[in-house]
Amino acid sequence: MSENQKKIWITGASSGIGKAVAEKFAREGWKVAVSARRKELLELLAKNENIFSFPLDVTDRNQIKKVFKDILEEFNDLDLCFFSSGTYEPKDEQSIDPDKIKNVMKVNFLGVIDCVKAVEDYFKNRRSGHISIVSSIAGYRGLPNSSGYGPSKAALTNFGESIYFDFKKFGIRVSMVSPGFIKTPLTDKNEFPMPFLKTPDYAAEKIFNGLVKSKSFEIHFPKGLTLTLKFLRILPYSLYLFLVDKLVKR
Ligand SMILES: NC(=O)c1ccc[n+]([C@@H]2O[C@H](COP(=O)([O-])OP(=O)(O)OC[C@H]3O[C@@H](n4cnc5c(N)ncnc54)[C@H](OP(=O)(O)O)[C@@H]3O)[C@@H](O)[C@H]2O)c1
Repeated sequence: MSENQKKIWITGASSGIGKAVAEKFAREGWKVAVSARRKELLELLAKNENIFSFPLDVTDRNQIKKVFKDILEEFNDLDLCFFSSGTYEPKDEQSIDPDKIKNVMKVNFLGVIDCVKAVEDYFKNRRSGHISIVSSIAGYRGLPNSSGYGPSKAALTNFGESIYFDFKKFGIRVSMVSPGFIKTPLTDKNEFPMPFLKTPDYAAEKIFNGLVKSKSFEIHFPKGLTLTLKFLRILPYSLYLFLVDKLVKR
């Protein structure tokens, strides 16, 4: 193992996008720490000689701190954090259920904030490093049947924009990942046709290139979908509400 081997911590790594990103970084020779709640899935991933399992529930702040300490003990150093944990239950989003919305916020928003908090001092003292957060195009603007997930991702994107400025002063890069529809256990629950649906490996390729080969703040894909959503984002309310209403009625 080379002394210059780069090191990454990935949350939400037991399935979908996080898992594919872990496998991609491992193939590229990085040393990879993987976290999520399902230990057995992480152990399967850790059969790869570059991947190491650190189970974790992101709603448990003390566990996050402990896991990060364990990773540093094992790895000595960390270059990049990729925070990808997230939850989505489409059936829960069709009416307003404050308890379910609280749970979505706990995992998708507060869980990520606790992960960033856990690594903040380490990266600030190191005066370099990279924190990347997986948000979603679903957070660009309010969408129908998205009373919890969309707001959690909107908050996350705003948080990422905010700490971009604060962390830059310490030489730390902050980036956001905004995927369109990727075929994972999360989107398998959707009962509507998903335009431009892509595989987790496609997402991992885009994410690896965006994180390692570019300096962009936002890594978004596939462009056919994300640019359309970006266009909708800048429209005045009258047009935005009219168009989305028409689109969902079709
Ligand atoms: N797929 C898409 O089209 C799409 C589009 C935009 C954004 N995203 C975002 O991409 C990220 C990954 O989603 P995915 O599509 O790959 O879905 P996924 O396969 O369901 O992955 C979600 C990951 O989050 C982990 N997770 C959930 N709750 C957790 C908790 N309390 N503590 C620790 N880990 C937890 C899950 O692991 P455990 O269950 O083992 O804990 C799993 O590894 C999410 O943030 C999602 O919002 C996905």
